[in-house]
Order: sequence, then C-alpha cells, then structure tokens
Amino acid sequence: MSNTLPESSTESSTKSGTADVMPGPGTSNIVEIKGARRTFAAELAPVRALRGVDLQVTRGEFVAVMGPSGCGKSTLLNVIAGLDAVDEGTVEVAGERIDGRDEDWLAKFRRHHIGFVFQFFNLLDGVSALDNLVMPGVLGGMKRRAAESRARDLLDLLGLADRTHQVPAVLSGGQRQRLAIARALVNEPTLLLADEPTGALDSDGGLEVLELFRRLHDDGQTIIMVTHSPEVATGAGRAVRMRDGRVESA
Ligand SMILES: Nc1ncnc2c1ncn2[C@@H]1O[C@H](COP(=O)(O)OP(=O)(O)OP(=O)(O)O)[C@@H](O)[C@H]1O
Ligand SMILES: [Mg+2]
Repeated sequence: MSNTLPESSTESSTKSGTADVMPGPGTSNIVEIKGARRTFAAELAPVRALRGVDLQVTRGEFVAVMGPSGCGKSTLLNVIAGLDAVDEGTVEVAGERIDGRDEDWLAKFRRHHIGFVFQFFNLLDGVSALDNLVMPGVLGGMKRRAAESRARDLLDLLGLADRTHQVPAVLSGGQRQRLAIARALVNEPTLLLADEPTGALDSDGGLEVLELFRRLHDDGQTIIMVTHSPEVATGAGRAVRMRDGRVESA
C-alpha cells in the first residue's frame, strides 16, 4: 500500500508477542506508524485530522514535522505520545504497540519513554526552576534526593544553574523553554517530542532553543519536532511534510 516504507525493514522490526517489555536492544525504529487515522466529531462535519499516516523514525534521528495549519501535525505528535488515540491503524513506539492501551498503561508508557515540550512551556508558575524539574522526577519514580541531583545536573547542562531558585515568571522566553526542555529530559525519555517549541519565542530565543535541540541530537537523543519555521527545520536531520492529514514526503 505505502510506497514510502521498504517492505523488508518494516517486517523485520515487527515484534511478536504482547508482553509489557522495554524496547529490545536490537530495535532501531523508535516510531513505526502504519495507516493511522484519527477523526474528530464536529458540529458540521467530522474532521479527519489523520487520513492514513505511515511514518518511521529511527533511533537517534532528529525529525522536523512541517505543513500548513490544521494539517494534523499536533494530532500526529499527540498520537505518538499516547495523548490521543487513533481510530484505525497501528502505532508502535519504543518497541511497544501503544494503540488500544488503557490510560494507566499509557501514563506509565509516557513516564518511561516520552518527554514533551509545548509551545507555551506549561511550567508550574508558583515553584522554582529546581522544583519544576524535581517534581516530574519524583513522579517518575526517583527518590527526592536523586531527582534533585538530576535536576541540578540538567540546570547546569542547559545553562540555567544561576536560575535554580527563581520562578518561571522572572525568566526570559528562551530560558523558560530551556527549563521546559530540561523538565522533558528528567526521566531520560526514549523520545523527545516538541510541538512548535520556538513558536512563542523571539528570534534569539528561538535560536537558543534550536541550538539546544541540536546538542541533544548530537548526544544521541531521538527528537521529533513540529515547526512552521524552515530555518528551524534546517537544523533537523530530516523534514516530514504533511498536508490534509497525510504525510506528503518523509
Ligand atoms: N480535540 C479536537 N477536537 C476537534 N477537532 C480537533 C481536535 N484536535 C484537532 N482537531 C482538528 O483536527 C485538525 C488537525 O489539527 P492539528 O491540531 O493536528 O493541526 P496542526 O497541523 O497542528 O495545526 P497548527 O499548525 O495550527 O497547530 C484541525 O482541523 C483541527 O481543528
Ligand atoms: Mg499544532
């Protein structure tokens, strides 16, 4: 059906069995989506946000997802994160079939495998930069002391060590987004997803954040980033273009 995926590689990465397992060391595809469809009910007519998407992303890739407003980019990212479900098709992430799973399973899956960066940061306003990182670490199963040590390492790595005790409101846009990226990395996700992470930033802030994604990619992090900016997309290794709920070119 699809002429974008080589038959042999999709066959070889298909896992048998349904056990709750972590990804095997031999699994090189972090994302494998086949025939994904997602339709939203709406007053006038149903909105077909995904109309048969096939996509493969390999471990260590940095992929930019582009396309006009409303073409399904955020829906695709949410499906990969297990935040939204497909109506048809299969979704495999980090070696696991995630379609058809219940909310508890998906919550656990997200804690283990997914870091998500939003356009508008979604930080906790009332608490320090440090606590914005410690909380998800503790929720992810770390002891408080270990989470704090991980948080301090990340603040250091992301150039925010002098902001440790400040609240997000006093940080610049670029600094807030770096903090949000640090938060997404606390639990060492298999996959870092970002939905227009530079969309709310000025050009300096955007470049700062893009540079950080590049460094993470150089260190081996698998990244899928939605962006409207061709400059930002140039920084990624591959551009996936969407139109009307389909992948136009990958
Ligand atoms: N929860 C929802 N309920 C109803 N319709 C939705 C929902 N989420 C998305 N849609 C619709 O699905 C289509 C795809 O939306 P999506 O948010 O994935 O687009 P996008 O490519 O991310 O757009 P943008 O670049 O503007 O962020 C749109 O027509 C949108 O209105
Ligand atoms: Mg969107």
